[in-house]
Amino acid sequence: MNTLRRAKCVAVGHYVPEKVLTNADLAQMVETSDEWIRSRTGIEKRRIIAEDERLSDMAFHAAQRCLANAQCAPESLDGIIVATSTGDTTMPAVGNIIQHRLGASSAFAFDIVNACSGFLTAMSNAAAFLEAGRAQRILVVAGDAMSPFIDWEDRNTCVLFGDGCGAVLMEAGDMDEFGVLDFLLASDGGGGVTLCIPASGSAIRPQQALANNPKDLYLQQDGRRVFNHAIRAMTSSCQNLMNRNALGLDDIDLFVPHQANMRIMTAVGERLGLREDQLFSNIAEYGNTTAATVPLALSDAQNAGLLKTGTRILITTFGAGYSWGAAYLTWGRA
Ligand code: UT7
Repeated sequence: MNTLRRAKCVAVGHYVPEKVLTNADLAQMVETSDEWIRSRTGIEKRRIIAEDERLSDMAFHAAQRCLANAQCAPESLDGIIVATSTGDTTMPAVGNIIQHRLGASSAFAFDIVNACSGFLTAMSNAAAFLEAGRAQRILVVAGDAMSPFIDWEDRNTCVLFGDGCGAVLMEAGDMDEFGVLDFLLASDGGGGVTLCIPASGSAIRPQQALANNPKDLYLQQDGRRVFNHAIRAMTSSCQNLMNRNALGLDDIDLFVPHQANMRIMTAVGERLGLREDQLFSNIAEYGNTTAATVPLALSDAQNAGLLKTGTRILITTFGAGYSWGAAYLTWGRA
């Protein structure tokens, strides 16, 4: 077994549904305003999945675009890992659905459920396969269709989320300066009740929820508590990762945090001492797309000319669980 391998991120792609829901649209639905949403979250609009569209449709399109950008044939994939909390069904896993649809005949496939930290978790799993010599090429797809789980009468949550999907192609390569240098993942299950969809599994059956409390079918969040935890956890995981790899602020070209709230991202960036131009955000366009935010941001950064071979990226995420973490990588390969 070759232990001297590094996982490289070589291509990215994304897909978002066509339907746009603006802050002005939401102001027609609940007691809110464009001004409140913009100033408290940085969000201007979000995309909403069509009624006949599934998570696997978004995942398939994002995967296809990523593979096209990489000029990579689906048959050459060894694995597909999908991060989502909102798959088409509880089983089968979305990974299998898109493996078949892509024609990735040599790829294993499975899903990872870790809410807004799903992409980071999937990416670290892919890196472990690649570094161990168990795979050469893995497609990581991350996305969520949160809109079916939103209570469109609850202004505290309905303004925050959007639907979308992103994909990153990872390959094994040499221990040169390109690729994923380090990961840090963390959890605190004590935070579970502050951000959850109560009746989405075995805890409360849908029929019980319909009879007793239909609101349990939808996402519930103690926004202020999650807000405070998110800032602390993302800041400390970035600091730990930077310290243990002796990274300075000049070693970061692009800071790509989970896009849940512009105020959270700015606070983390300030606490780390980063300049404003190091932070990349597209939350204004898409809102919080749960597992998709980071690959969607990477894809938009590439389209904006900010992500190139050699770009050094600091990623951090925080989400339900609580689960959080950070990663540092140099984009592309030699
Ligand atoms: O991705 C997973 C992780 N999730 C997050 O990181 C989200 C973390 N939380 C947040 O982003 C913020 O807490 C929110 C954006 C959800 C809320 O912002 P906030 O500054 O924490 O506001 P708040 O919840 O403390 O509410 C302040 C006021 C309240 O009114 P009162 O009680 O002061 O009269 C709310 O009722 O704002 C009110 N409010 C709204 N007003 C207009 C809450 N939502 C809205 C709304 N429009 N949509």
